[in-house]
Amino acid sequence: MRVLGIESSCDETAAAVVEDGRRILSSVVASQIEVHRPYGGVVPELASRMHVEAIGPVVTQALSEAGLSKEGIDAVAVTQGPGLVGCLLVGFCFAKAFAFARVLPWVGVDHLAGHLHSVLLTDARPPFPLVALLASGGHTGLYYLPEVGSHELMGQTRDDAAGEAYDKVAKMLGLGYPGGAVIDRLAAQGDPASIFFTRPYLDKEGFEFSFSGLKTAVQRHLQKYPQDAHTRTADLAAGFQAAVVEVLTHKLIAAAQFKQVRQVVLVGGVAANAGLRTFLTVAAAAKGINVWAPPLSLCGDNAAMIAAAGFHLIQAGHTTPLDADVYSRNPRSGSIPTL
Ligand code: KG4
Ligand code: ZN
Repeated sequence: MRVLGIESSCDETAAAVVEDGRRILSSVVASQIEVHRPYGGVVPELASRMHVEAIGPVVTQALSEAGLSKEGIDAVAVTQGPGLVGCLLVGFCFAKAFAFARVLPWVGVDHLAGHLHSVLLTDARPPFPLVALLASGGHTGLYYLPEVGSHELMGQTRDDAAGEAYDKVAKMLGLGYPGGAVIDRLAAQGDPASIFFTRPYLDKEGFEFSFSGLKTAVQRHLQKYPQDAHTRTADLAAGFQAAVVEVLTHKLIAAAQFKQVRQVVLVGGVAANAGLRTFLTVAAAAKGINVWAPPLSLCGDNAAMIAAAGFHLIQAGHTTPLDADVYSRNPRSGSIPTL
């Protein structure tokens, strides 16, 4: 089954064609970062307008790169939420119209479910059961997945998401938006021990996170030593990153041990972090745990992961009615209504 996936929840307009939930025939991502960069973050109204302009060409390109016409598509999957409502509506209405016109099954997919499926899109697929850390700009949570299609939320952030903390700290350091990749690069040049930040929630039992205190700690440091933003940027980035990476790694391994599983999965934009990938792989290996993460192209927002999640939903008999609507946030924060 060839599924056309569409994603427009934030600042990327994406379309992909995926066969049987695992083989990517095409994956096109049109990023709006340059448009939002001057504002230091995503401007929702601008984002919606750009989705309107991009959605048609992006879908056309995805079909063409897959070597298919519209007739070659068997089903449509589209992000239904969470995200910016104006942005979601663009992809959602496009997908609805595409499916209606061609009398195809279509399904609304939760964005978080999409990220969790991103790790199933390569030949190196993890066996179930597993524990997944989903760390992105909007969410940070730990999920237990006994099998494809079912999940249990083990814990999530009480305030900022990990990616959000990266973006806010980058802004404080004048590194621009988005901040994750640039802090990651700088951190590799700095000394992680020269400026120490307390590891939030490391001493607490359970699987919850908190990153807003860490962001404030960086802010306080800069108030005390304003020149460090210019003279010790790499050390600040390294110190901040070490705190985030240690907490994410510790909690993920603890969650795997609690569930007695030997496979852990890292997904979402922050999964692209080189420091996290290395630190986690070494720490997990010492406990006999295997780490799985998608290639960098599938860590950030993309439509292949939405097509993969949609395929599994359709296989399980789910379709979405034509009068369905998008949602900005999940009814139970961090939980995934359909997986
Ligand atoms: O999954 P994603 O593309 O969008 C959301 O669903 O939020 O994640 C975007 C987030 C941004 O906060 C960005 O700064 C962060 O992922 N990010 C990174 C890295 N690359 C992107 N964070 C840390 N290290 C990176 N290399
Ligand atoms: Zn995302």
